[in-house]
Amino acid sequence: MSKQSKVLVLGAGGQLGTAITKICGNGGPAVTPLRRSDFDADRHEPAEMLAAYADHDYLVNCIAYHKVDRCEDNFAESFRINGELVMKLARFCAGHDLTFMHISTDYVFDGVKKEPYREDDLPAPLNVYGASKLAGEMLAAAYCPKHFVLRVSSLFGEREIRPAEVNFVEKMVRAARENRPLRVIDNQVMSPTFTDDVARVIRFLVEDDVSGYGLYHACNGGECTWFEFAQKIFELTGLENDLTPVSYAEFHSYAQRPQFCSMDNSRLGRLYPMRPWAQALEDYLQTRGYLARSR
Ligand SMILES: NC(=O)c1ccc[n+]([C@@H]2O[C@H](COP(=O)([O-])OP(=O)(O)OC[C@H]3O[C@@H](n4cnc5c(N)ncnc54)[C@H](OP(=O)(O)O)[C@@H]3O)[C@@H](O)[C@H]2O)c1
Repeated sequence: MSKQSKVLVLGAGGQLGTAITKICGNGGPAVTPLRRSDFDADRHEPAEMLAAYADHDYLVNCIAYHKVDRCEDNFAESFRINGELVMKLARFCAGHDLTFMHISTDYVFDGVKKEPYREDDLPAPLNVYGASKLAGEMLAAAYCPKHFVLRVSSLFGEREIRPAEVNFVEKMVRAARENRPLRVIDNQVMSPTFTDDVARVIRFLVEDDVSGYGLYHACNGGECTWFEFAQKIFELTGLENDLTPVSYAEFHSYAQRPQFCSMDNSRLGRLYPMRPWAQALEDYLQTRGYLARSR
């Protein structure tokens, strides 16, 4: 890194934005975190509001409309934030020579494949959220040649704004402490991913000035069902809970969701290997002070 790169982060108050601000800020590139109070895509035009940051080298977009069930009834809103906004940000980046880093999702897939999804697998979203995120991926690539699209999945990490809006790990820990029995899906497979590890990928891409632009699966290694994930959380924390496996069908979710979303991260791994999800989970539990003392 010849000079210190400047990284603009949108959606910085959210889960992933919080991690990027922390990990990059800690001796890495200079980060300018913009929270919704600084840049509100519902009220501000990107080209106008972001003009003051045109001297930055990277723009990382963590803003999304990602309440999956709500997206079904809010088609226009989903495509405005997950599609149109992304196009405007990509144009802004191309116009001012910033590298655009956009965050996407495993939900671009239909989940019928029997082995981990690679970047060259054909997307086939099952719901409005996935379709709008796929539109965003395509618009990022179409409007900004210097782009990275990082697909992440089933995130867990700390959140600066509204920390009470908890991730799956926190929900499990809280339920166990309150002695609340839990029903968890045992036939939906995914690759749980620690936000700090995605942030480390972003820091690496910036610090090494990587120019291998394109699409990457930035997920922790391996796969599990939500039930297996919950079991691992209880094993590592030493907490006990009445955990019942249930099927995806029994949950009657409003939006259809892919049932198999194991993500192959080997393309990214040739540049920056991401560790297995269980190691990342242990690290997260350690930082939260939840690890069992005997470990
Ligand atoms: N969470 C997951 O498990 C998961 C899985 C796969 C992919 N992803 C993708 O990962 C990315 C980051 O997700 P995350 O979990 O970090 O989400 P998050 O915690 O909800 O953070 C998103 C941030 O964007 C802000 N935002 C939303 N709409 C906005 C708008 N119109 N104008 C300005 N700011 C706005 C939110 O502010 P408010 O809080 O004020 O709304 C929030 O700070 C997204 O692209 C998402 O699609 C997430």
